[in-house]
Amino acid sequence: MTKPKTPTPWELAEFAVAHNNRVLMYGLPGTGKTYFGLTHAVKSEAYRLICTEEMTDADLIGCYKQNEKGTWTFQEGVGIKAWRQGARLVVDEINRMNGDVESRMMALIDSHASSSWQHPDTGEIVKPHPNFSVVATMNGEPEDLAPAILDRLTVRIAVNEPNPKALEALPEYLRGIATKWTGANAYPRFSLRSFVDFHAMNTSSANLEMSARVAFGEDQWKELNDFLLVNAGDLKAEEPK
Ligand SMILES: Nc1ncnc2c1ncn2[C@@H]1O[C@H](COP(=O)(O)OP(=O)(O)OP(=O)(O)O)[C@@H](O)[C@H]1O
Ligand SMILES: [Mg+2]
Repeated sequence: MTKPKTPTPWELAEFAVAHNNRVLMYGLPGTGKTYFGLTHAVKSEAYRLICTEEMTDADLIGCYKQNEKGTWTFQEGVGIKAWRQGARLVVDEINRMNGDVESRMMALIDSHASSSWQHPDTGEIVKPHPNFSVVATMNGEPEDLAPAILDRLTVRIAVNEPNPKALEALPEYLRGIATKWTGANAYPRFSLRSFVDFHAMNTSSANLEMSARVAFGEDQWKELNDFLLVNAGDLKAEEPK
């Protein structure tokens, strides 16, 4: 009898985001959480909200702004926009949100049944479109979040390995070393971003050594250089004469 296969964290994330409209993804930096939130099972638009200490209600809900004619009108923020359109809202670094906006965020990500907002000018009651969905992301552990926020994000997926699709999207010559160096247990560990940046520099400069030095640092560049030279040798051997 074959043993049932345990799904990978990314398989769990694919399932969760496709079938639940509020998902928290947490873990090591640079594994592909934000990219995934912005692209996976998105039904219409996707918006990104990066939480900071300085953010205010205006970022989420909206604020009054003066138009060209000098009239003050209420400009809806990304949260209300996403509600109306049934869009995906990726709430990045949700653990960095400051206490002042916490109750707004709670209302924004609450279940469809309990959420509504009244437009200050028109009095219109806005409720989230049934397709509205949230993917919240963070580094660290869910317990870092306020209990009331956590209670609205009951589906939580820990991802500490890079998304295999992100590794596949890298150029072939980098996949082997990227798989090795981006793994949860790699030491030192690098983010997918280091490989994306390295490739961009290497392509524009055709200077592999300098690109590797600046992307991976003095302690690691040589190992990468050697790895790629061996790889390049293999690739050259396959080139037609
Ligand atoms: N599925 C993918 N296909 C192609 N490239 C990807 C994919 N996922 C991630 N990447 C690349 O990896 C980079 C890092 O991904 P992303 O910003 O999603 O990581 P993250 O897990 O959100 O990181 P952090 O925890 O630091 O916010 C992206 O800018 C993109 O270049
Ligand atoms: Mg991110």
